[in-house]
Amino acid sequence: MTNSSSNAMWGGRFADGPDAIMEAINASISFDRRLYAQDIQGSRAHAAMLAATGIISPKDAEAIREGLLTVLSEIETGSFEFSTALEDIHMNVEARLKELIGEPAGRLHTARSRNDQVATDFRMWVRDQLDATEAALIALIRALLSQAEAGAGWIMPGFTHLQTAQPVTWGHHMMAYVEMFGRDLGRVRDARVRMNESPLGAAALAGTSFPIDRDQTAAALGFDRPAANSLDAVADRDFALEFLSVAAITAMHLSRFAEELVIWSSTQFRFVALSDRFSTGSSIMPQKKNPDAAELIRAKIGRILGAMIGLFTVMKGLPLTYSKDMQEDKEQVFDAADSLMLALAAMTGMVSDMTANRDALLDAAASGFSTATDLADWLVRVLGLPFREAHHITGALVAMAEDRCCDLHELTLEDMQSVHGDITADVFAVLGVENSVASRTSYGGTAPEEVTRQITRWKEMLT
Ligand code: ARG
Repeated sequence: MTNSSSNAMWGGRFADGPDAIMEAINASISFDRRLYAQDIQGSRAHAAMLAATGIISPKDAEAIREGLLTVLSEIETGSFEFSTALEDIHMNVEARLKELIGEPAGRLHTARSRNDQVATDFRMWVRDQLDATEAALIALIRALLSQAEAGAGWIMPGFTHLQTAQPVTWGHHMMAYVEMFGRDLGRVRDARVRMNESPLGAAALAGTSFPIDRDQTAAALGFDRPAANSLDAVADRDFALEFLSVAAITAMHLSRFAEELVIWSSTQFRFVALSDRFSTGSSIMPQKKNPDAAELIRAKIGRILGAMIGLFTVMKGLPLTYSKDMQEDKEQVFDAADSLMLALAAMTGMVSDMTANRDALLDAAASGFSTATDLADWLVRVLGLPFREAHHITGALVAMAEDRCCDLHELTLEDMQSVHGDITADVFAVLGVENSVASRTSYGGTAPEEVTRQITRWKEMLT
């Protein structure tokens, strides 16, 4: 005898219903309700295939189709009552379908299991996220391209060790991030191609004896093909791990850029002004304008990388095929996806709105002996000195300038000649930051014409 409180979906052999704590640890409906659209879409495709192959009648399939559409609209209008006793989204939808259409609802689960069902639903959800991430990355890249185009020739200091190194251009710096986010875009696209195989029809793990048509359901759900091994189809979550890996790398890039914006917008640097729309005030210090959005973007890597490590840890060591551990795959992915989308949107907004302070950038570029390498290169090119010797002489001139609290170009020719007698007045031509930047025309270098060439290449690639 089945106890009336045992689970209606699988309680046939159970005399007792679950303990409240069992129900609490087992249920996933509080979070996997986010899969409702994919779940209903998957069920519709499955029912249509069951009818096309003669496994269920066209009449039952039609009742199922209409019932599922009703369930969908109930969920979307908020009138659907989710039940923890029904564990997850799959059983919540099916139970409501039964209330709505009666007996035919029971035929929907023919030749299917929640194992291939959840794998299919989740794959479609992650696929949507990859598509959304692709669009968000393109928007960010476009915003960076606009900044780069406006300031292809604006001079700023380039840093190593956060010490002034050599002058570069604003456009060049923006384009560095275009390259980084461009590779993230490539990773998103790669991951999508690899993951786009349908688990549906793998059933519990071994496939099914019903004459199903997996190509039909795969095509109906936008997959390129059915997954070729039923055990793999229900057991792996590498598609989610790939998404999290891509998300973590993107979040790392966002974090570095966000850190630069925090530094650049400080009173000490004043390289950029962030818009009011992406800043906040202080409740106690009226003068303050805080780069909170940049700081939060800088921090999002914490939870995104946490999600990645979390899911890797859940999956490691699991024997094939499905284990309930895998129900722990969703919340981390949901949270990481939400965080990533928000961070990308906020960064795009900040980049679109921010104004570079050209004078501050130029002042900073001209100080800190940023053309010392140009001086050393000149000694090599014009006087024919070995680079090591040129480096040494330049070092002595930097020390002299530092001593006099002036910059390299402010030393006199006599000063220069006191260190190396062959230096001529021509040297002053390379000590200006404009000349320095304009001279770096090597492929990928900082010369404005080269930066412009890269901007054009990217704009063509994005159209
Ligand atoms: N809620 C489950 C999950 O998210 C669905 C699959 C359950 N399958 C099973 N055989 N218990 O993983």
